[in-house]
Amino acid sequence: MQSVEEKRTRPPLRAAPLLRLGKFVLKYKFRIFAGLFLSLVVSITNLFSLTIFIPIFNALGETEKVELFPVGASELNKYERYQQGEELPIFDAINARWTGFKVYSNDWVAEKTPREAIFSLCLLVLPIYFLKVLGLTLSLYFIGTAGTYAIRDIRNRLYNKLNQLGLDYFEQGRTGIIMSRVINDVQLVGRSLSIEFQEAVVNLFYIVTHLIILALISWEMLLAILLVVPILIAPVNKFAVKIRRAAMGQQERLAEMGGHVQEIISGIRVIRAFSMEKFEQMRFNIINHRLFKNTFKGHYYHQVGPAITEFVATLVVVLFLGWGAYEISNGELSRGMFFGFFFILIFIMRPMKQVSVMVNLLGASSAAAERIFEILDEKPRIIEANNPLRFGGVRDTIQFDDVSFRYPGSEYDALRNVNVTVEAGQTISIVGSSGAGKSTFIDLLPRFYDPTGGRILIDGKDLKSFSLNDLRERIGIVTQSVFLFNATLRDNITLGRVDIPEEEVVRAARAAHAHKFISALHDGYDTVVGERGVMLSGGQRQRIAIARAILHNPPVLIFDEATSALDNESEKMVQEAINTLLRGRTVFIVAHRLSTVTRSDRILVMDQGQIVETGDHRSLLEKGGIYRKLYEMQFTIS
Ligand SMILES: Nc1ncnc2c1ncn2[C@@H]1O[C@H](COP(=O)(O)OP(=O)(O)OP(=O)(O)O)[C@@H](O)[C@H]1O
Ligand SMILES: [Mg+2]
Repeated sequence: MQSVEEKRTRPPLRAAPLLRLGKFVLKYKFRIFAGLFLSLVVSITNLFSLTIFIPIFNALGETEKVELFPVGASELNKYERYQQGEELPIFDAINARWTGFKVYSNDWVAEKTPREAIFSLCLLVLPIYFLKVLGLTLSLYFIGTAGTYAIRDIRNRLYNKLNQLGLDYFEQGRTGIIMSRVINDVQLVGRSLSIEFQEAVVNLFYIVTHLIILALISWEMLLAILLVVPILIAPVNKFAVKIRRAAMGQQERLAEMGGHVQEIISGIRVIRAFSMEKFEQMRFNIINHRLFKNTFKGHYYHQVGPAITEFVATLVVVLFLGWGAYEISNGELSRGMFFGFFFILIFIMRPMKQVSVMVNLLGASSAAAERIFEILDEKPRIIEANNPLRFGGVRDTIQFDDVSFRYPGSEYDALRNVNVTVEAGQTISIVGSSGAGKSTFIDLLPRFYDPTGGRILIDGKDLKSFSLNDLRERIGIVTQSVFLFNATLRDNITLGRVDIPEEEVVRAARAAHAHKFISALHDGYDTVVGERGVMLSGGQRQRIAIARAILHNPPVLIFDEATSALDNESEKMVQEAINTLLRGRTVFIVAHRLSTVTRSDRILVMDQGQIVETGDHRSLLEKGGIYRKLYEMQFTIS
């Protein structure tokens, strides 16, 4: 939880993450620039369609000759000098051209009756509107697609990043939070990058172009209104901050809830077994209540914010109408000019109001983007060498050279100065009490983690110089907890490789003693496992994992408690399967049951992160150390 202090000092809108988001969008330059250009077209055509009411209102109700635009004497003078080819200062030149347009329009309309004039002006509105709609849809398309492409890229980058990050990143119970970032935060950012972004651009152009015309019509009135605008902005700003905070809190609470529910679901057995429902319910209630409060606040401010803006806006309009009536009666403004000003002003109210919504959204997006970039900036701890060596298998030795390892965030070393050399082609058993560091030891081989001290050499070359892909492909692992994908049994054995013929899959399953129970299932190898399919027992899962290993036939094999979930009968069978697998390979077996250990070439006995004894079964028994104690304990128990 953040302290109140922290919240106060946080700037309302961070530019850096937004700029970084911009880079993702700018990859689609053509779309963006086409979209920007079309947005400009939209705002100019819109301005046209509004200003065309000026002459219409001027003409409306006239019975005699219609004058579309009043032209002042000094204006006319400049225009005439301009026509005679005189060099005028830049502003006068523009003014002269504008006057020229007015004179020309006045001449054009002078030949018509008022009714005809109004009618032709109205006809002119149609193609302009058509142009506007065309521009709007196209700019929506261009900017919208650029934004969604950018979002797609960000999601891909996030996903790739998650694939690269070390195991420690995922082991901190952050599933819910990571999921919320990949799904919710990206969604939020996505909104502000696509459709809302286009709206913001068009609105910005509306505001700029329309304000210019307002200034041309009456800069005094515009100035007065602009002085009132800060009053309008103040409460909106205040709300923007509140909404941003609420939105951020809401995302965090949602992530928290996701994490909690995830935990409940994966821990449901423990919860039921220990009757923890009450306790979990209490934790859930607290989270749920916080979420409710945050959500309500978010919605409330979101609704109330615009209402306040609207109230202030109405106040301005009323004052303005009064002033306008006064100016018209004084003859300072034509009726058309006043109504034109009024229309344009009314029109830009919405874009201006939208700006406040935009600012909120940008605030929320910048917070979400920050969280996304936090993941993208996370440095993978396992880094592949620049020119990685191919790894085909172990030819000579695997050497642990003074290897130490400490888990990130841990206070002690899980492995301490481990020195051992293992011959290729041997079967090595690793035994030791729980927490001795056996799993940690073998996890270093496929580089799930890198040693924090010392190094591991394969055939004299540092493990880090090999291709990661090769290492992980050529080192097969069967562990106690087997993860099965929500897919068919066949896919779970082949791991999605479709080029493997059916006979080989069956042969591997037979060798792992899995074929029998698979064929007994209704759909055989096409049976879907996991949430929407059959559930398998621990032993069955292990046999699937062993079939995987047999099929993929890696030169280095690791079994970490691979037979622990099996009953004696199947363990014997699986052990046989494993024994046939051992030939010609370098194999590491972590086992609690020493009966599986006795036949290995070499046994490493671990204790408190160190290798304390090595040798074969017989010599270790004779030695009378820890191994003998472990051995005797098991035999007296069984
Ligand atoms: N992800 C982790 N983060 C921090 N510490 C860990 C982590 N995994 C293991 N440890 C610690 O490292 C030490 C060695 O753990 P390891 O899993 O290697 O033991 P083990 O010999 O395989 O035990 P077991 O026989 O119970 O599987 C233990 O003290 C454990 O608490
Ligand atoms: Mg272990």
